[in-house]
Amino acid sequence: MTVAFTRTIAMVCVSAFACEALAAGDAAIGRDLAKTCVVCHGRDGIGNNPMIPNISGQSEQYLVKQLQDFRAGRREDEQMSIIARELTDAEIANLAAWYASIEFTVKEPGN
Ligand code: HEC
Repeated sequence: MTVAFTRTIAMVCVSAFACEALAAGDAAIGRDLAKTCVVCHGRDGIGNNPMIPNISGQSEQYLVKQLQDFRAGRREDEQMSIIARELTDAEIANLAAWYASIEFTVKEPGN
């Protein structure tokens, strides 16, 4: 089986002043990397306690930004800051692609 990986460079502008060049993530690689996240975020990205946010189906750009912010110290959390410190740009992109690719459905109450 031949697997072709394509890497696209996209300009992601999170604000008018902060545009960062990002390699588009690979969800399959991200799935493998996410084994270290499962203990808190669950296999499916659903947090396993009320203080751990659900990250499945979240926008890829948002996930990339949060992980970059934890790594840079712009966002702080005693657990995530330590975890994100070790992540490379490529790992962040791949993890974000994986969690963004998990389908998440929303149902309003009473419907
Ligand atoms: C030890 C538990 C723990 C582990 C392991 C962990 N996280 Fe987290 N994560 C948290 C907590 C707690 C928060 C909420 C932080 C806050 O309140 O600001 C969080 C927040 C996040 C957020 C922000 C979500 C949002 O809605 O803003 C992302 C993205 C995230 N984690 C990704 C990951 C990834 C990817 C991994 C694996 C590399 C991982 N986490 C591993 C506990 C963990």
